[in-house]
Amino acid sequence: MQNKIEEIKNCALKEINEADNLKALEAVKNKYLSRNSEFNNLKKGMKDLEPSQKPIIGALLNSVSNELNSLIDEKNEVFYKKELNEKLLKEKIDVTLDGIYNPLGHIHPLTRTINELVEIFNFLGFSLAENKNSPEVEVEKYNFDMLNVPKEHPARDVQDTFYCKSAANVVLRSQTSNAQVRQMLASKPPIKIISPGRVYRNENISARKNNLFHQIEGLYIDKNVTMAQLKGVLNEFIRLYFGSSRPTRYRSSFFPFTEPSVEIDVQCIMCEGKGCSVCSGTGWLEILGAGMVDPNVLTDAGIDPNIYSGFAFGMGVERLAMLKYAIDDIRLFFNNDERFLKQF
Ligand code: PHE
Repeated sequence: MQNKIEEIKNCALKEINEADNLKALEAVKNKYLSRNSEFNNLKKGMKDLEPSQKPIIGALLNSVSNELNSLIDEKNEVFYKKELNEKLLKEKIDVTLDGIYNPLGHIHPLTRTINELVEIFNFLGFSLAENKNSPEVEVEKYNFDMLNVPKEHPARDVQDTFYCKSAANVVLRSQTSNAQVRQMLASKPPIKIISPGRVYRNENISARKNNLFHQIEGLYIDKNVTMAQLKGVLNEFIRLYFGSSRPTRYRSSFFPFTEPSVEIDVQCIMCEGKGCSVCSGTGWLEILGAGMVDPNVLTDAGIDPNIYSGFAFGMGVERLAMLKYAIDDIRLFFNNDERFLKQF
């Protein structure tokens, strides 16, 4: 029995010695010290020994298994540290390396301006009109006829309006005022909406004009709506958009769908009213058209002008953005030059 134990011990020592990594060591441990090992079988055989032999063999088995266990643990520790170091070395992160650059996009200055204008008018009680009430490809009826624009009006001229070749009476809308008509047909007063969108005009492209641009239309219809309310709302809008110190003036004007009509100017942002090239020496810049909705327009849309009245306004988004951010060329909005867009 003693010899057998010695023999197993020597084999185990040799294999522990030869094991050169964690896995090999684990295998040796399994082979010699697990439940099913030969060594354990010897322990189980103890019960058949002579009573006098039991303590001697028992003590020997214990000391050998302790010795093997502690040898394996020691070596285990060494391998563990070695492998951990290798792993740490391999997975080392160089914190001085450049990070991965994920550039963030910017909101386009026109989108930004539209968002700001919509927010201001929401604050003043106007809600955003439904998209379907504001199509860009429009029939003449809603872009012109129902807005009281006579058939012979120069605005209808092909010089200004893009007509569709393949369908009669279809245009790319020349103004967001089509939203007024569609809104009046779609809902009953009180109506208090704004409707931003693209419009198209056959212009010679220059620093001031592009054949695609954006407008925001506003419409308020209820009982007893007055010109004083129009002034109140639009003055408040100008105060919120440009800041309280910007002087304004109202000039009488003409639009076929409003009566009376006005154009509103703000004091030139560039020269503070002294007169410069931006304001053509006048000291003023026109920013919007407005007026009391013409009774003909109300009647055509099925709203009784004896009960209801209202005002409408329309403004150019590019114009408002150019004034606020001191941009001197409308084409910058459409060229998508990153150097320009990045500034917003
Ligand atoms: N639609 C007009 C334009 O494009 C602006 C406007 C809208 C004027 C509503 C009065 C009322 O010039």
